[in-house]
Amino acid sequence: TLSAHDKELVAKTWTKIAPKAAQIGGEALGRLIAVFPQTKTYFSHFADLSASSPQIKAHGAKVLGAIGQAVSGIDNVSASLSKLSELHAYNLRVDPANFKLLAHTLLVTLSAYLGAEFTPEVHLAWDKFLALVATVLSEKYR
Ligand code: HEM
Repeated sequence: TLSAHDKELVAKTWTKIAPKAAQIGGEALGRLIAVFPQTKTYFSHFADLSASSPQIKAHGAKVLGAIGQAVSGIDNVSASLSKLSELHAYNLRVDPANFKLLAHTLLVTLSAYLGAEFTPEVHLAWDKFLALVATVLSEKYR
């Protein structure tokens, strides 16, 4: 679980990356489909499935928008993402294993954007936070 300090670090990082959130989301999603091509099946209705696809980038921007909401509601992520949890479970039927893959590509992307500011401590806080988001998005499956 996230300590008060972890939450502070996540919130602090978010204020730094928020202006570039759309770009970061686009890169994280582009990396997801490039590095874990099995994830492409969920986006087969997109015309372009290259890592630089405008649809993939636009979708990544939406994903980071939701991450921003989760950061704002970090004390009750379940409530913050409850609609999205239903969407991914009932409508999209995304295998929960994929949330871990996206968390991974998001961490890599954050590291690239933050450079030296992505300290082991910040890395840990985001790893815990994204694991929580993944749990929330999968909880309607159980
Ligand atoms: C749609 C967030 C993980 C597949 C969405 C939307 C958001 C979102 C905000 C748009 C909802 C709307 O339009 O109302 C997230 C977050 C994730 C996550 C925060 C985890 C951090 C995943 C993963 C996959 C996935 C791992 C599959 C590999 C999809 C698909 C759609 C979608 C297929 C619909 C795309 C479309 O047809 O436009 N997600 N998502 N999501 N998500 Fe996720």
